[in-house]
Amino acid sequence: MSESQALLRTEGLTKTFPGTRALDAVDFDLRAGEVHALLGENGAGKSTLIKCLTGAYRRDAGEILLEGAPIDPRDTQDALALGIGTVYQEVNLLPNLSVAENLLLGRQPRRVGLVRRRAMNDRARAMLARYGLSIDVTRNLDAYSVAIQQIVAIARAVSMSGRVLILDEPTASLDRDEVAMLFDVVRGLRDNGLGIIFISHFLDQVFEIADRVTVLRNGRLVGVHDIGGLDRLRLVNLMLGRELAEETRETGRGGIDYDAAPRLRFSGTGRRGAIAPFDLDVHRGEVIGVAGLLGSGRTETAELMFGAAPMDCGSVTSEGRPLRLASPRDAIGAGFGFSPEDRKTSGIIGDMSVRENIVLALQARQGWLRRVPMRRQRELADDFIKRLDIRTSDAEKPIGELSGGNQQKALLARWLATNPEFLILDEPTRGIDVGAHAEIIRMIEELCASGMSLLVISAELDELVAYSHRVIVVRDRVHVAELVGEAITTDAIVKAIARPAAEAGENAR
Ligand SMILES: Nc1ncnc2c1ncn2[C@@H]1O[C@H](COP(=O)(O)OP(=O)(O)OP(=O)(O)O)[C@@H](O)[C@H]1O
Ligand SMILES: [Mg+2]
Repeated sequence: MSESQALLRTEGLTKTFPGTRALDAVDFDLRAGEVHALLGENGAGKSTLIKCLTGAYRRDAGEILLEGAPIDPRDTQDALALGIGTVYQEVNLLPNLSVAENLLLGRQPRRVGLVRRRAMNDRARAMLARYGLSIDVTRNLDAYSVAIQQIVAIARAVSMSGRVLILDEPTASLDRDEVAMLFDVVRGLRDNGLGIIFISHFLDQVFEIADRVTVLRNGRLVGVHDIGGLDRLRLVNLMLGRELAEETRETGRGGIDYDAAPRLRFSGTGRRGAIAPFDLDVHRGEVIGVAGLLGSGRTETAELMFGAAPMDCGSVTSEGRPLRLASPRDAIGAGFGFSPEDRKTSGIIGDMSVRENIVLALQARQGWLRRVPMRRQRELADDFIKRLDIRTSDAEKPIGELSGGNQQKALLARWLATNPEFLILDEPTRGIDVGAHAEIIRMIEELCASGMSLLVISAELDELVAYSHRVIVVRDRVHVAELVGEAITTDAIVKAIARPAAEAGENAR
């Protein structure tokens, strides 16, 4: 096949949902042996495009051509059989089955009994060896990190499809080393002639791995570019269709009265197996950033502070008075809010409307017997839809029909609507596009200026550096460093995260 002949092409691909034209006559092409990034704001139509390619959605109009021949995948199995495999952000495998079973599900070597199992395990081992992965394939999938699970999912998809691999936000919950590992796998597949479609909101990753990019805006094709001819600013402008507000800004630091009594004081609080006892003061108007690798104890810190995973030692005071934090209900009663990391498992109720999802925490806080008046609900929902630029035709739409990033924004609105004194945000900008990203950061700064205290967990260190008054670094379930004011730099955070365990023991705090 010549370089320019498309492996996979769409012509005039169109998909409409009630009230939304998600794809409007989109032409897209993918070559063999390239990584092609699909970019655009939240709701631009990226996921819809790949769902049409894989038969998860039926298109309204347009053609899909594989090596020049029209195809019409009816479902994802069908697409797989045609050569198109997909891996989503949430690994779609079975956690309680072994790695080998997951790899070969539905096509195990036929003979029953032990022989079959051994043959299956051998085959699974050989499959993973191609990706430089040598793990125990008899262990359950969920014994492994998300990165390994992703690679297992890729190995399965590629072994069944072998021509086109689609990755929809595969790196959203991976740390830096894991992304590097995944990218090695992706490069290997590309060099073997696969065509790879890569969706991500991390532009640095796009520049690192992609050969070409296609940009969508409001369901329409904006352009196709070689990555070499683009710089970051131009790419952002293409995605947004407008100039992004100045990225560098004065940091919100300073102005915290550290001599005043803290709003909250956590003393020796911890939970066995989750997070080692730590001391932490939270001041009025302060943003505390939490950095650390995935699984380091960041989320456990947040859960403990919110009463979601009760502490088994230590104590908490609020304005000097003892505070009981045995459950999220206690926390909410004390004016806390918590926007969790994983919108799918902890928070979004897909068949309820955007409005209902937004008022949920407020309603829970004031008790289900005292309904928030409908007029107030509408005001709140409309206000946050405007402030966070949540892309929805109206507040009554089921939230499950919004794009991933817009669901994330609605979840954030839910906690802002309760007007908390202390708000915990776990990865508030994950899956959110560059424009909305800047908005959320601006909002964090506004909130702390108005006196709210925030604890923000983020893997994006530049972001933490920009808005934090203080940064806590967590490693191996211990708070290992605390950086204040001018000492907060990405360099200092990376060093604290990476310091080898032996040395860390001596210098911890
Ligand atoms: N099942 C559905 N029912 C109704 N509308 C939908 C459905 N799926 C997507 N949409 C709408 O189609 C548009 C495109 O959504 P899509 O999920 O493709 O966006 P995206 O580019 O993947 O965004 P994100 O970056 O947030 O994941 C959005 O306006 C969304 O609300
Ligand atoms: Mg999407």
